[in-house]
Amino acid sequence: MKLLVVNGPNLNMLGIREKHLYGAETYEDLQLYILKKARELGVEVDIFQSNSEGALVDRIQEAYGEADGIIINPAAYTHTSVAILDALKAVNLPAAEVHLTDISKREPFRQLSYAGMACQAHFIGLGFEGYGKALEWMKENAQA
Ligand code: DQA
Repeated sequence: MKLLVVNGPNLNMLGIREKHLYGAETYEDLQLYILKKARELGVEVDIFQSNSEGALVDRIQEAYGEADGIIINPAAYTHTSVAILDALKAVNLPAAEVHLTDISKREPFRQLSYAGMACQAHFIGLGFEGYGKALEWMKENAQA
């Protein structure tokens, strides 16, 4: 099974940005966590991060015919990007939404998730573990 993990803007700043919300662990720590969990589950994983909406759309499109599922934390684009929602719908792969923080308990503008509308599973407010749970969900639910 080949899975794509897509991370949106400012997630590369983990460990630096708003530590009271996102914690002290870095983006590299997150990548290592995902790779370790994927190895344990016996799934292949490619991790992509970009601060640009178009690059995220391009990478999702490239997953068509290449990946068996997409795990996505679109970060701030969650709440604004119909383009990312449409890309997820276009490739029509099993998709899981992850957010480190519980967006349902944050500012009103974070309550709407466009990308989430194309996702069959949601792991919200669990920190790094959300990615682990999403990998487990993919292993159970996606077709290799
Ligand atoms: C986030 C939540 C978003 O609202 C925010 O813009 C982020 C990170 C999260 O993982 O909690 O950058 O997606």
